[in-house]
Amino acid sequence: MAIKMKNMRGQLKGITEDRIPFTFLQENVPRMQDNWETTAAVTEAKVIGRDKEKQEIVVRLSRSITKEITILPIYGIGGIGKTTMARLVFNDPQFREYSRVWVYVSETFDLKKIGNSIISQLSVSDSQPTELEMIGNSLKRLVSGKKVLIILDDLWEREPRELEKLKNMLNPGEGSKVVAVVTTREENIAQKIQTVEPYKLAPLTDDIFWAIIKDKTSFDARTGRVRLEMIGKDIAKKCGGMALAAQSVGYMLDSMKSSDEWVSVNNSELWDVLASKEFSPHQVHASLLLSYRSMGSYLKLCFAYCAIFPKGHWISKEALVHQWVALGLVEPPTASSYNQQSSDRYINQLLGMCFLEHPKSSWVSN
Ligand SMILES: Nc1ncnc2c1ncn2[C@@H]1O[C@H](COP(=O)(O)OP(=O)(O)O)[C@@H](O)[C@H]1O
Ligand SMILES: [Mg+2]
Repeated sequence: MAIKMKNMRGQLKGITEDRIPFTFLQENVPRMQDNWETTAAVTEAKVIGRDKEKQEIVVRLSRSITKEITILPIYGIGGIGKTTMARLVFNDPQFREYSRVWVYVSETFDLKKIGNSIISQLSVSDSQPTELEMIGNSLKRLVSGKKVLIILDDLWEREPRELEKLKNMLNPGEGSKVVAVVTTREENIAQKIQTVEPYKLAPLTDDIFWAIIKDKTSFDARTGRVRLEMIGKDIAKKCGGMALAAQSVGYMLDSMKSSDEWVSVNNSELWDVLASKEFSPHQVHASLLLSYRSMGSYLKLCFAYCAIFPKGHWISKEALVHQWVALGLVEPPTASSYNQQSSDRYINQLLGMCFLEHPKSSWVSN
């Protein structure tokens, strides 16, 4: 161990000495400097223009509702709006009398976790069994004689046997009704899990996309609207109807007060570079990359730090800010609480650009 430490110290000394010939300068970049204007705290994104689609899904569900188990998958590429659509269905008056359950499945498929998540939402007093068979039995007892709506958001599992087990676990048996809506990126998975024809979510039309940008940028209160509209509609076309891009680009454009800044977004070489790739999903990346580029250097570091959390992880805002402070990315809060506000601003910017998401509990209406 001592020898290892000695070698390591030697290596570190070498690295320190190597710095000198490169004449690196220690820049004194102010931590909170970036060119974003402060916007009001980000509120939950308004859903625009999905009424018809939601209605179709609800009708498709109600047609098969006579059966004990109904599974309707909604599929489409990432960022197109599947989770949002599932949320609309979840809150639809049609299911007012249902017990409603939301499960975030994620890339790691864990049948026991899914089962226990459903149990915990249907009953506060039930214990959470560890054996799959017991989980199945508890579920059957809990849904017995009831109508239950279950959203399984973000299913990635492809293995038919696992999907079959999931179907069996959800099947409530006689006298009960389970309606499940599954969101997934893959049509293949949708076909394997369905009991009702899967619903392919289409990209937003350019008009709806533009309506979202208008809403996010307080367009009606701006000057030079004719020119802005021309540029904005052009940008909308380049985003491929991806709802995520609408949110992210809309948030970025909102911080840009002059039409020249909008023009520079529209003329960015990123659109061409990324759109020339084989698959259209790359267009989302262009818009996200544009948002990323517009971030200040410390915000970029704060964002990069978030990569330590797994996808779908619930991050405590306070804990995240403490960790940023510990890493020297934001100043510790002071008595004036200015810096606390600054880290709030960072969080709001990341939420606004859809680089972080609100947990679903904040938008489930009961
Ligand atoms: N119709 C819509 N109008 C406005 N924003 C939307 C709409 N659909 C989705 N969004 C927003 O786009 C982003 C991505 O949507 P999401 O439902 O998470 O996509 P997916 O689940 O397909 O990856 C979210 O920030 C969401 O609020
Ligand atoms: Mg989703």
